[in-house]
Amino acid sequence: MRRLYLFATCTFWLLVAAFWAGSLWLPPAETIAAIAVDKLISPTELAKHTAPENCWVTIRGNVYDLSTYLPEHPSRPDILLPWCGKEATEAYNTKTKGRPHSPYADQLLVKYRIGILASEKP
Ligand code: HEM
Repeated sequence: MRRLYLFATCTFWLLVAAFWAGSLWLPPAETIAAIAVDKLISPTELAKHTAPENCWVTIRGNVYDLSTYLPEHPSRPDILLPWCGKEATEAYNTKTKGRPHSPYADQLLVKYRIGILASEKP
């Protein structure tokens, strides 16, 4: 009986140690999320998303899905819509008026990031 007790106790603590060590070997959860979000999106794929309810843009090498943000953007819809499916770094940097967006806008952008722009395969 004493042997069984010892065996059970040792097995329990071995399992606890293995589980704990396993969680140490894994990268932190936010790193896993960042890797998962770094989906490569080709220019051809990007170009398919031109509708207001399906609007992707690329800014500074990242791809953003602005579909849900479009109705909330402070300007008239026709300012943003022409950029759906396109490279919009310059437009974003200048608001097409020679004025940069605020740091708050930069923060908002992070929320809509869905991947990075891949170079087209030859
Ligand atoms: C890609 C093309 C874009 C263009 C041409 C554009 C243009 C504009 C314009 C004309 C205004 C209003 C007038 C002004 O504040 O000067 C504005 C304001 C604003 N936009 Fe955009 N925008 C674009 C993308 C975005 C994106 C992707 C976000 C965020 C996800 C964003 C966030 C904001 C915010 C928060 C404001 C309020 C003013 C500020 O914080 O700078 N915009 N934008």
